[in-house]
Amino acid sequence: MEAKFRINSFEEYEEQYKLSTERPEDFWGQIASNYQWQKPWDKTLEWEFDSPDVKWFLNAKLNITENCLDRHLEKRGNKLALIWEPNDPKERFVRMTYRELHEEVCRTANVLKKHGVGKGDRVAIYMPMIPELTIAVLACARIGAVHSVVFAGFSAHALADRINDSSCKMVITADGIYRGAKEIPCKGVVDEALKSCTSVETVLVTERTRWNVQMKEGRDYWMHQELLDVDRFCPAEPMDSEDMLFILYTSGSTGKPKGVVHTCGGYMVYAGYSFANVFQYDESDVYWCTADIGWITGHSYIVYGPLLNGATTLMFEGVPTYPDAGRFWQVCDKHGVNQFYTAPTAIRALMAKGEDHVLSYGLYSLKVLGTVGEPINEEAWEWYHIHVGKEKCPIVDTWWQTETGGIMISGLGGHSPMRPSHAGYPLPGIQPVLLDQEGKEIDGNDQEGYLAMRFPWPSMLRTTYGDHERCKNTYFSHYNGYYFTGDGARRDDKGMYRIIGRVDDVINVSGHRFGTAEIENAINSNDHIVSESAVVGYPHDIKGQGIYAYVITKEPPTNPDKLRAEIVETVVEEIGKIAKPDKIQFVSGLPKTRSGKIMRRILRKIAEGDTSNLGDTSTLLDPDVVDEIKAGAL
Ligand code: WTA
Repeated sequence: MEAKFRINSFEEYEEQYKLSTERPEDFWGQIASNYQWQKPWDKTLEWEFDSPDVKWFLNAKLNITENCLDRHLEKRGNKLALIWEPNDPKERFVRMTYRELHEEVCRTANVLKKHGVGKGDRVAIYMPMIPELTIAVLACARIGAVHSVVFAGFSAHALADRINDSSCKMVITADGIYRGAKEIPCKGVVDEALKSCTSVETVLVTERTRWNVQMKEGRDYWMHQELLDVDRFCPAEPMDSEDMLFILYTSGSTGKPKGVVHTCGGYMVYAGYSFANVFQYDESDVYWCTADIGWITGHSYIVYGPLLNGATTLMFEGVPTYPDAGRFWQVCDKHGVNQFYTAPTAIRALMAKGEDHVLSYGLYSLKVLGTVGEPINEEAWEWYHIHVGKEKCPIVDTWWQTETGGIMISGLGGHSPMRPSHAGYPLPGIQPVLLDQEGKEIDGNDQEGYLAMRFPWPSMLRTTYGDHERCKNTYFSHYNGYYFTGDGARRDDKGMYRIIGRVDDVINVSGHRFGTAEIENAINSNDHIVSESAVVGYPHDIKGQGIYAYVITKEPPTNPDKLRAEIVETVVEEIGKIAKPDKIQFVSGLPKTRSGKIMRRILRKIAEGDTSNLGDTSTLLDPDVVDEIKAGAL
């Protein structure tokens, strides 16, 4: 049997899955031969999960942008590569063909080169959702520079941390950002961040809002001016399969966010393959993913996955509720969107605004709907299915992570069986297992456990930037011989997976990941008044999880609301608005074990409002504190 790049039925899926697990190297070798390589690989895979050390397509040479762009020029040169829909529906949208995008990427790549950026250099990108963001990402890849996109909702402090962690040489940004009714100073945030970064030599600024921004002589340059005198072609840098393609920072249960590292060959193979199959993209379709390119979903399924397949990818600058809650559907009708991929939090937010907004639009073009980022509750799933998909579009509930690089468990368009709130079956090549506390595999169906992977896949993370030990400890040490996801999952009677949620100290707010420690550190930075804090997630109707903070103050707060506002302000400064605590409760102590460990289980229960069964509290250092916290719960 042969590996097929595109699966066209569930029977085919089953055959391909079998092949991919019985002969993984053959399977991926054949899938990879659908791409353009400058030099073929000597060996498909070498791996061990102890160090860990994983290499795919060894010694092959390639450039991902040749596969995203050059490869399509002959047949699809005049096909639309990118449609850009602005924040304001009255502003003109932008359409770019493959030929145009190719030229823009080459020119921007030449600007980067002119400023001394080359293979292996790190470039931070902090930009609004405009075409120049996609172009900047691809321009880096063109010359082998490593992009590190930072979501432009993170604060100056968070941006500086990320720039410093990987010693970025350049920052690419814009003057300002329009996001819904908000106007956000983009360049201003970069200026603030760079006060504490020494590695950055150059800042390139794209014009978006035409606001008056400060330009530092010798450091800051306007992109449009720099583009005037560069060549229209830039050769694609030959990259080794295992050379770094990008770094993307994400939160874990401990310490600062870590830079997840993805490499060129494997990431390319899997991003393109998973896109083609999950979304069942056909040549004339228009595909839209509403994520921001600052997250992994945007990397793999706005930029790389679609372009690797010669697809037309739509990029949206705005938010789902601006100018009103019908905006997503208006954009779908306007551009004839065929595949639509969004997050449960957006669906819940729109659901709360009522059906009228969605019923005003025809949505005839839609064929496949997708969700990502957090578990989707059945109510939201049904609403999406009935009102958006008119009960004729399959929903692909795609489970994956920044670390996995691509979609791991999901339906394949309309071919797979669907069950609300279930991601379903693993993609070919993906070998999930459920583990028990001891790390033993749990066999059979109708079982629940810790979700782990027992075999590598091409787009898995290779390391965490500058700290391989951390990669090992976070993902490969909990259970020997497995990649541990941090999620709990259930396998139903038919073997379909349902993701239950994180089992570590990571909370998922509107599909954005935060470590509780990260938020606690920000709260504790108010050390004139705060002595300690503990943060937990609690169920939130729209966001999935809300942030609940228990804070011990040095003295009882005289004005609790004012202090709450101050605390929120520091979290916004340290991390960004997206990490604002929803509730802050002042307490005189925290439930701790005799060894000093905070019993988060108890705090989570109280935050959920479920205090009926707090379990055994007798081993606590100070059991009375629990009653006090219960009494003051918000
Ligand atoms: C959660 C986003 C349930 C999960 C691509 C995972 C999901 C974390 C789903 C990764 C889904 C993602 N159903 N939960 N379909 N997709 N998650 O790194 O807890 O931002 O570990 O990657 O989101 O978030 P990340």
